[in-house]
Amino acid sequence: TQPKTWSDRFESALHPAIARFNASIGFDIELIEYDITGSIAHAKMLAHTGIISKEEAMQLVTGLEQIRIEYREGHFNPGIEAEDVHFAVERRLTELVGDVGKKLHTARSRNDQVGTDIRLYLRDQITEIRQQLREYQGVLLRHAEKHVETLIPGYTHLQRAQPLSLAHHLLAYFQMAQRDWERLGEIYKRTNISPLGSGALAGTTFPIDRHFTASELEFGGVYANSLDGVSDRDFAIEFLCASSLIMVHLSRLSEELILWASQEFGFITLKDNCSTGSSIMPQKKNPDIPELVRGKTGRVFGHLQALLTIMKGLPLAYNKDLQEDKEGIFDSVKTVQGSLEAMTILLREGLEFRTERLSTAVEEDFSNATDVADYLAAKGVPFREAYNLVGKVVKTSLAAGKLLKDLTLEEWQALHPAFAEDIYQAIAPRQVVAARNSYGGTGFEQVRNAIESAKTQLL
Ligand code: ARG
Repeated sequence: TQPKTWSDRFESALHPAIARFNASIGFDIELIEYDITGSIAHAKMLAHTGIISKEEAMQLVTGLEQIRIEYREGHFNPGIEAEDVHFAVERRLTELVGDVGKKLHTARSRNDQVGTDIRLYLRDQITEIRQQLREYQGVLLRHAEKHVETLIPGYTHLQRAQPLSLAHHLLAYFQMAQRDWERLGEIYKRTNISPLGSGALAGTTFPIDRHFTASELEFGGVYANSLDGVSDRDFAIEFLCASSLIMVHLSRLSEELILWASQEFGFITLKDNCSTGSSIMPQKKNPDIPELVRGKTGRVFGHLQALLTIMKGLPLAYNKDLQEDKEGIFDSVKTVQGSLEAMTILLREGLEFRTERLSTAVEEDFSNATDVADYLAAKGVPFREAYNLVGKVVKTSLAAGKLLKDLTLEEWQALHPAFAEDIYQAIAPRQVVAARNSYGGTGFEQVRNAIESAKTQLL
């Protein structure tokens, strides 16, 4: 049967099913090392302020480090009876060091404790994800450097629009990741604030030093208000929001890779190390990895929505609802980290761009039509007039099964006397791309500059 957890106010233990329902140890064990680290800082502070003796603090610290080792070696596996990681550690500590273990919780509540743990945890995860974003950006950049002169059809509405440098296309994803990296840097600052010492909700009667624990734990500051400190989870919502955006960006690239790997597009080849087969159709080679990234995006959105809903209308200060923050945060961290890792490997060694096919693809369409209109507009024809004229040529060419490059100079001049021999040069795909030399455009010169500044962004 269940041991009694609470003070002597309680006469009996929890109903076993209720104990299972109430417990978080099944998932908050993930926080154990942060819980130990937070407790060590707290114990040191208790000695520093004379609330306990130095010897007592030393015993506590030694015991806590012992639990860390036991956990790492796989010997610490608390069950449901522990309720949560905080109780589990405190109990084990008392087993290890005796009655002095019971002093650890002086001037502290599980409320400020769990708030501290989750911030310490997220801090590390944010740092890890930012590092992964850097690697992902590095791989995108290396492809971009190789493919400045590789052309790819550019689309709007998934209809051929204007040809692009493949590097330009890839650098768009680089810049999305750059903002993700910056966003997480901002969120790190707001996560890196210590709630420890807020007590259950109102502070404590003991002469604690919150700045001491904050500096032991390398927090950038302390929560100014104890109620806010124990009940705020907005940093976690921000994290889930930033995570959702990372997944949005990864899923857009995933979708493109899936399309590009199809026979219809044929822009990339997936290598055997990053694709899967079919159990029945022997010819199949499936893009499971980007499909999974695209699919996993939904989980992270769900966790964001869940935490927003948990927080909405929650009265001050701590409520048990807050225990529900953890699984979504943990799962989002794993999903984002796993997706970034998989996508980076896929880009680095799991695919090849079919440069021949990419560059010939842009020869077979009307994606140079804007350039004909621009050609006329540059010679003084009002753009809208030029645009209508070219629309007409596209229509007649389509009917005749021709492309713009197939028109004779006589045909061009019949359309408008401003056309000259240089129209052929103006509508050649390579020139069409090169000519878009406005800042941030796909022109090769711009793309080379963009690669250089992307390199400095990674420094
Ligand atoms: N397991 C709890 C949580 O995850 C720890 C805090 C419990 N505090 C309390 N007053 N019941 O939120």
